[in-house]
Amino acid sequence: MIPLDPSDRKPVGRTGEFVSAIGLGTWAIRDYRKALQAYLEAVRLGLDNIDTAEMYDNGGAERFVGELVRVVGRTSIFITTKLLPQRFRSRESTVKAARLSLERLGVREADLILIHWPDDLASIEEQARNLEALAEEGLSRYIGVSNFTLEELERARSSLKKHDIAVNQVKYSILDRTVEKEMLPYAIREGITIQAYTPLERGEVLKAGKVREIASKYGKTPIQIALNYLISRPRVVAIPKAEKVEHVREIAGALGWRLREEDLEALLEL
Ligand SMILES: NC(=O)c1ccc[n+]([C@@H]2O[C@H](COP(=O)([O-])OP(=O)(O)OC[C@H]3O[C@@H](n4cnc5c(N)ncnc54)[C@H](OP(=O)(O)O)[C@@H]3O)[C@@H](O)[C@H]2O)c1
Repeated sequence: MIPLDPSDRKPVGRTGEFVSAIGLGTWAIRDYRKALQAYLEAVRLGLDNIDTAEMYDNGGAERFVGELVRVVGRTSIFITTKLLPQRFRSRESTVKAARLSLERLGVREADLILIHWPDDLASIEEQARNLEALAEEGLSRYIGVSNFTLEELERARSSLKKHDIAVNQVKYSILDRTVEKEMLPYAIREGITIQAYTPLERGEVLKAGKVREIASKYGKTPIQIALNYLISRPRVVAIPKAEKVEHVREIAGALGWRLREEDLEALLEL
């Protein structure tokens, strides 16, 4: 049994820092001009962590986050970005890629930099050591990984000297609960944050009958049920993407309340 977490602020690894249980992703933004209004609304509603990557729109998404930061102020959002796996083959290429990301973001230091997925040409140990260089050089306050298996995560952690992996960003939704088997219990035990990506299954969660049924029982929407399920788990932060203001408001409505245990269990039948 996974214990329940009623908190809307979640710890970032063991750093002592907290972010909102729901953040926002930035993959595949169609219209940056309109999107800015949605992301500003998100920050206003307390969604204070934004996920991006050098890969998204070839740096365009990072530049967009930079624009957002200029409007809301650096301390208003916690920025996660992800560098391509091949960068981590050497310390030099890792540092160079991070500097370019920071330039696009318009900040001196990221809050969190992740390896987007494990590279298959460098060893996990080498990648982890190059990732750690980013914290050593003051380019990122914290470090983490994405799409790492439990074995890769353990190997990465054991090759770090001074810093620990704060986050593993993985696919996790009410329709895909693979991480609940091993990864989530490990993360809870070890104090690692799970950033749940594609938490709405790009809208597919709207179609599940059980989700709709529970939504009407609570007077909430299926999107809110799908997100509330995830943030009910300790250590889990959901990062849906939304560039429409009304979508952002609906997402924010997943905070401030919790599904009852019997309904969480009913959702396990999906
Ligand atoms: N680490 C990785 O390998 C990895 C992989 C995939 C994604 N990610 C991260 O996770 C983020 C989220 O994942 P995702 O973009 O794949 O999928 P997602 O969040 O499951 O779905 C995004 C889609 O859902 C729509 N949506 C949002 N709110 C809605 C609402 N209230 N009602 C109806 N539809 C709504 C969005 O529409 P609008 O945009 O039109 O509002 C968008 O089309 C990404 O942006 C990215 O930052 C990371």
